[in-house]
Amino acid sequence: MRTLVLRDIDDQRFIVFVNNTSEKWRQLQSSSRCEMLVFWPTLMQQYRIRGEWQEIPSAAMETHWARKPYDSKLLDHFYAEGRPQSSVLASRAVLLEGIERLKQRYPVADDIPFPGNAQGLAIDANYMEIWQGSESDRLHHRHRYVLTANSWSKEILVP
Ligand SMILES: Cc1cc2nc3c(=O)[nH]c(=O)nc-3n(C[C@H](O)[C@H](O)[C@H](O)COP(=O)(O)O)c2cc1C
Repeated sequence: MRTLVLRDIDDQRFIVFVNNTSEKWRQLQSSSRCEMLVFWPTLMQQYRIRGEWQEIPSAAMETHWARKPYDSKLLDHFYAEGRPQSSVLASRAVLLEGIERLKQRYPVADDIPFPGNAQGLAIDANYMEIWQGSESDRLHHRHRYVLTANSWSKEILVP
């Protein structure tokens, strides 16, 4: 399980971004099925969403990537230089020196080329379980929606 930013909900699909140098990307290759957990503690709401994921085509990813903050773009180039995400650093200085070198090579965010290693995933849901906390009586509201033959059915669950 990993924490990811939910970037968008587009055409009823949930969009997240990962890097293809990462362990999670390798793990994702074993199945197109996945589950997302979204928790809003301030609202006491949880969503468990299951579905099939598909890769967002690289042309569309270039557009998304262009909007990334400057430092995040540099980090994607750092990964591409044989330093995969989550690999071990001898020291933090190795990271800082590598990023400094990349800053000198690419001083302007808009001129940084897309290194091709950012992957977008679009998750097409077929199951959604919603939990809404009821702090006053602890009888939390739970229901789930299941997609079968193009039709969603709703069931109420014991909290
Ligand atoms: C609040 C938060 C948001 C994160 N967002 C992302 C993200 O959008 N994409 C991503 O690849 N990693 C994100 N991470 C880091 C991942 O949880 C994970 O630690 C990292 O991607 C390494 O995963 P790996 O096991 O594939 O190497 C985020 C972490 C936190 C705490």
